[in-house]
Amino acid sequence: MTYLITGANRGIGLALTKEALKRSYKVIAATRKPNSESLLELKNNGADIVIMELDVSDYQSIKNFSEKLEYQVNILINNAGVLYRDRFPELVYENFMNSFKVNTLGALFLIQELYKNKKLKQGGKIINIDSILGSISNASGTTSYSYSVSKAALNMATKLLSNFFVKEKVVVFSVHPGWVRTDMGGSEAPLTPEESAKGIIDLSEKVNETGKFYDYKGREIKW
Ligand SMILES: NC(=O)c1ccc[n+]([C@@H]2O[C@H](COP(=O)([O-])OP(=O)(O)OC[C@H]3O[C@@H](n4cnc5c(N)ncnc54)[C@H](OP(=O)(O)O)[C@@H]3O)[C@@H](O)[C@H]2O)c1
Repeated sequence: MTYLITGANRGIGLALTKEALKRSYKVIAATRKPNSESLLELKNNGADIVIMELDVSDYQSIKNFSEKLEYQVNILINNAGVLYRDRFPELVYENFMNSFKVNTLGALFLIQELYKNKKLKQGGKIINIDSILGSISNASGTTSYSYSVSKAALNMATKLLSNFFVKEKVVVFSVHPGWVRTDMGGSEAPLTPEESAKGIIDLSEKVNETGKFYDYKGREIKW
């Protein structure tokens, strides 16, 4: 089984990479920083890992990556993400644009390029790492606008793609990883990246229903 994980060099992405390797899966670790020490250390210790450069905010980088990739992917985890702490009426146009490029278009166009290049294996899974902050049903009004709007849009992409991929027998779903102690989640967060990653890799093995939104424990979340 081959996993492709974006933003694999730190935070939840690195923990997902380690958890998948621990379960004897091959991991394509996609990152803007292919010289990342944490990934190189795994490789040097003999892990079944291929490190590849990918900037998900750059369409050309997505195209190059998808053409160069030499493996078919069973499980794609779109994990790379950015969060700017903005509030209306102080929104910053450039931050909003980058949030859409990374959080929404990065995942969507990577899926499209992998599909066109026949790199997504039939019977596989696409997991979009979303957030409870992208749930319209749970919106409170105190969230970052650029983050919540771009993650809500990613949820729509999950739903639309889940319909498209029925004929390919590819299951597509969104996952909220919990509030996790990473650079993004901050030091107050209750979950470690390892706890969250264990739950998400469990879901990658277990979930067979397409077009749903779960938390890292497999509890369904309203869109
Ligand atoms: N932590 C939480 O509490 C929490 C809660 C809900 C959802 N999430 C979601 O979980 C995912 C992982 O978050 P995290 O907490 O691990 O965040 P993080 O510690 O800030 O790590 C973000 C990762 O995304 C990568 N990334 C950012 N922009 C990229 C780009 N243009 N191209 C490729 N990679 C890029 C970063 O790579 P660089 O090192 O190159 O910047 C890094 O590997 C995100 O989608 C986030 O929205 C997190």
